[in-house]
Amino acid sequence: MLSVSEAIAQRISIRSFLPTEVPRDVVAEILDTARWAPSGGNMQPWRVIAVAGEARQAVIDLAERALAENPHGEADEFPIYPPKLWEPYRSRRYELGEAMYALMGIPREDKPARLAHLARNYRFFDAPVGLFFVIDRGMGYGQWAHVGMLMQSIALVALERGLGTCMQEAWGTVRKSLHAHFGLPEHEVIYCGMALGHPDWEQPVNQLRSERAPLDEIADFRGFDDSE
Ligand SMILES: Cc1cc2nc3c(=O)[nH]c(=O)nc-3n(C[C@H](O)[C@H](O)[C@H](O)COP(=O)(O)O)c2cc1C
Repeated sequence: MLSVSEAIAQRISIRSFLPTEVPRDVVAEILDTARWAPSGGNMQPWRVIAVAGEARQAVIDLAERALAENPHGEADEFPIYPPKLWEPYRSRRYELGEAMYALMGIPREDKPARLAHLARNYRFFDAPVGLFFVIDRGMGYGQWAHVGMLMQSIALVALERGLGTCMQEAWGTVRKSLHAHFGLPEHEVIYCGMALGHPDWEQPVNQLRSERAPLDEIADFRGFDDSE
């Protein structure tokens, strides 16, 4: 059994999956364990829509149609990133993209190949299961963060079962169409997607190991005996 530290270290974003199915029971068990994630006031401000089979194909088709109509995504009040990213975020994002495309052998100039990879988001990178995270529109920044606790818990439990995940804010570009497609009430909004399945370890993209800023860049220790 993996320790928590091992699971955190081993979880990575998987961007190529095998077609091997993930049975409903396994998905349900993962969600059943992860639903013990914490949330402020124990409000559990989340719902999950899991799609497989025809339901999965329907959202793949929907994304294709929606993006053909709006290649830059459907505008709404929840942009995926703030406009004009600044440092250090801009460089971190850039470095991730460059490392990923280098592994895949796609040069900077090959825009069509880069776009084709991005488009694979909208096929769940071939994962047989897709998850969508739904939050009440009235919730604030705090509660959106709490959905992240559920998502990381799902990713870790999936890992424990030999499965891989990729969180996918890319689906936010078609959240209006998804909202209508799932027949969600006006007060709900889709935050993010997630691909879930068996990693294809043969694919170079799954060799990507992203960097993290060192501890002293993100943590400020105060009042400890040995602090300088
Ligand atoms: C909320 C969230 C949304 C993400 N959306 C996408 C996405 O749409 N497509 C993608 O390829 N990766 C996506 N990622 C993966 C990040 O790029 C990845 O977590 C980051 O580069 C760190 O790499 P790692 O997950 O392999 O540790 C997302 C991650 C998070 C936490």
